[in-house]
Amino acid sequence: MKRVITYGTFDILHYGHVNLLRRAKALGDYLIVVLSSDEFNKIKNKTSYYTYEQRKMILEACRYVDLVIPEYNWEQKREDIQKYQADIFVMGDDWKGKFDFLSDLCEVIYLPRTPDISTSKVKEEVICKK
Ligand code: CTP
Repeated sequence: MKRVITYGTFDILHYGHVNLLRRAKALGDYLIVVLSSDEFNKIKNKTSYYTYEQRKMILEACRYVDLVIPEYNWEQKREDIQKYQADIFVMGDDWKGKFDFLSDLCEVIYLPRTPDISTSKVKEEVICKK
């Protein structure tokens, strides 16, 4: 069984996220999403619209996602990969090159981002205009 791991905030889940999750799952058999906790978002100066528990609930309803666990800090990736025996680490290519240091533990793959959609854009163009 091939295990795939990916990271993100996944706030206000949109089709760019779903594209990423679908392609990530297709690389293996089991997809683990390590979801930014509310505490970690604060460290990154990010505020999510939905709480961690709400974002987790939404991700768990996605057919491509097998497990959702929290991300608390930048340093936990090596430990997660080993603990969950991940074979492939996947991120969108906005992170290209940033996680190559993990390639001694598993394969590192950057998938092309879906153009013209992001949580920030949805927040600006939809939610703020209400
Ligand atoms: N992602 C993607 N295509 C998009 C948006 C996001 O492939 N159009 C991917 C990112 O590259 C990342 C994952 O989805 O691997 C989670 O991204 P996240 O930062 O949570 O979503 P964004 O929409 O980029 O959020 P923000 O606007 O807050 O940065």
